[in-house]
Amino acid sequence: MTEPIDDDLGPDESSEALIAVHWREEGYYPPPASFVAQANAADPAILDAFTEDKYPECFNAYADLLDWYKPWHTTLDTSNAPFWKWFVGGELNASYNCVDRHLADKANKAALIWIPEPESEAHAAITYRELYNRVNEVAALLRDFAGLKTGDRVTLHMPMVPELPIVMLACARLGVIHSQVFAGFSGTAAGHRIADSGSNVLITMDGYYRSGDLLDHKIKTDEAVEAAAKEGQTVDKVLVFRRYPGKYSAQTPMVDGRDFFVDELLKDYKGALVEPVSLPAEAPLFLMYTSGTTGRPKGCQHSTGGYLSYVAGTSKYYQDIHPDDTYWCMADIGWITGHSYIVYGPLALGTTSVIYEGTPNYPDPARPWREAVKLGVNIFHTSPTSIRMLRKVGPDEPAKFDYHFKHMTTVGEPIEPQVWRWYYESIGKGEAVIVDTWWQTETGGFLGSTLPGIHAMKPGSCGPAALGIFPVILDEDGNEVPQGSGKAGNICIRNPWPGVFQTIWGQPDRFVSTYFAKYNKDPKSTDWHDWPYFAGDGAVQAADGYFRILGRVDDVINVAGHRLGTKELESAALTVPEVAEAAAVPVVDDIRGRAVEMYVSLKPGYAATPEVEGKVRDAIVTDIGKIARPKNIWIVPDMPKTRSGKIMRRVIAAASNFTDTGDITTLANPEVVEKIRQQVQSTKVAKGEVPRELSETELAEIKHFGSE
Ligand code: PRX
Repeated sequence: MTEPIDDDLGPDESSEALIAVHWREEGYYPPPASFVAQANAADPAILDAFTEDKYPECFNAYADLLDWYKPWHTTLDTSNAPFWKWFVGGELNASYNCVDRHLADKANKAALIWIPEPESEAHAAITYRELYNRVNEVAALLRDFAGLKTGDRVTLHMPMVPELPIVMLACARLGVIHSQVFAGFSGTAAGHRIADSGSNVLITMDGYYRSGDLLDHKIKTDEAVEAAAKEGQTVDKVLVFRRYPGKYSAQTPMVDGRDFFVDELLKDYKGALVEPVSLPAEAPLFLMYTSGTTGRPKGCQHSTGGYLSYVAGTSKYYQDIHPDDTYWCMADIGWITGHSYIVYGPLALGTTSVIYEGTPNYPDPARPWREAVKLGVNIFHTSPTSIRMLRKVGPDEPAKFDYHFKHMTTVGEPIEPQVWRWYYESIGKGEAVIVDTWWQTETGGFLGSTLPGIHAMKPGSCGPAALGIFPVILDEDGNEVPQGSGKAGNICIRNPWPGVFQTIWGQPDRFVSTYFAKYNKDPKSTDWHDWPYFAGDGAVQAADGYFRILGRVDDVINVAGHRLGTKELESAALTVPEVAEAAAVPVVDDIRGRAVEMYVSLKPGYAATPEVEGKVRDAIVTDIGKIARPKNIWIVPDMPKTRSGKIMRRVIAAASNFTDTGDITTLANPEVVEKIRQQVQSTKVAKGEVPRELSETELAEIKHFGSE
């Protein structure tokens, strides 16, 4: 057990340091003996196999989990730093590794089990044999009908249905680079991503169930095609899966010559077989778009060999997946978690991966537990937002159901220790080990986590670094913040690892400047030691080596574990003709971690009306999607600004969160601050919306939000 950290700091210490020392150290929870007895990694010798002196060759063990057509000759090539190349000379195919190679001994075992949201509909279990048949048929269609070939990009805008992994694996079979856009994103957001990736084929679905409604998803297609066209990208073909094959569930008309029903086309490809293409390890497997500090989303490009090795290795040791497990990750495949830990990692290991179409608490908060019993789920994976929600709406439900998890994951946001304990005691029934996995879209797989059969858990901390990952916490000047000092700083990874993304699609300079330039002293160096990866998160490392992630240090708001860039939100608001200026800030939310609040000021001559507010809300939902819908929109007389005209987001964030606005004497217009505070807080109080007292970490984020 660690001692609480000494909090005797001098008066000149930064506020981050104070936050860190005020954090109460939590006690440890040892992994349950029943878990350890069967764990893939229970012998601490594995830690010795991944020490720095064994790096980078230690990662050959991950690559050895896959079947290669041609072995690699160089584990890590750093000659074009920081564009790292892994397993150079090797050739493989991801579809072969996730499907074909399991036919020998698992042909009749379920690869995927799909749970439709309506409980009246039967589960669909897809065996590895059937997955093989369907992936081949779709691959033949993509090649022969859609004309797609190795290296082309294709955009998917698919909901949580088995057709999504089938299409991904069909693309991988051909070496076509898939770019799946979360179905909850708007058509316009999909259109930007189509244009950025240069896709001329869009694959989508007519509709899907969400909270009891069969949504018209096809309606987003015309918007997407139009938005892409505005940026100069033509979509020639739209392939539309139907939720009920043979029956069209959307109201939106199909466009003749452009839109095609996949179930009709597939009739021509019955029994077709497509040889998996042998691809170099560094061939791109997919793009996954994420938000950053500028408006243009970043298409994170992931490799075939490095990525697949890393997700297979981490699925084995951190998710503890065995082939006979039934594994359920409730994330959406539209995010990186779903790519790595619903599709590629679990299927590479030949296990059964469960896919659920709808919302976790539909039609009632016992839904996940009923399904867990029915399917015999023994590994469960979700986010703090879902845990908080299930705790709020159905705290007593898990105990009523006779399921037994051996392993559970939390991912995507910091988890409060009290929420962690509820997850452990109630959902896990005190029997399941928990991993709190810290990582990012860019990193392909886990960076920080306990090794579940070896390390004790500590609520609120992700744990030590993952195997072969060597983090360091640096201050703004690049000095190392020592372990156990109680001080926070920027968490960086000193070394490349196989899962790291290869570049930002079409923006290689941004790749270097965003992630590597901050602490690089010699841009010509080909030595990886000179290129720490800047993760963009604040963190503190306790004396025991465990990391606690404090949250983003850039202009990104983490809503329910999903990243929204302030610039994206603000540019959407600025499309409203009446709006002169816009600023997005986070507000602490008990379920979703953070929500967005939007501040706008209007051009002269316009009045603040509910209509303008509605237009701003609609613009954001249209441009990004419902996930970004602001909790409140405040039309203010003016924005607090520095003398150079920069909007002070931290000042308005303080108004939204009822915290101290801090020093405002350097503002050009300090008088506006009080007006805004009055306007926002009196309305909130009248609506009964006063936030609770904030934790130290929440307070720190609000205090530092946005650059000055
Ligand atoms: O701030 C960290 C937070 O989520 C960010 C990455 O978001 P995204 O790329 O959408 O990927 C989410 C799923 C991997 C990180 O920069 N984050 C992720 N996991 C954790 C976390 N914060 C605290 N604890 C975690 N376990």
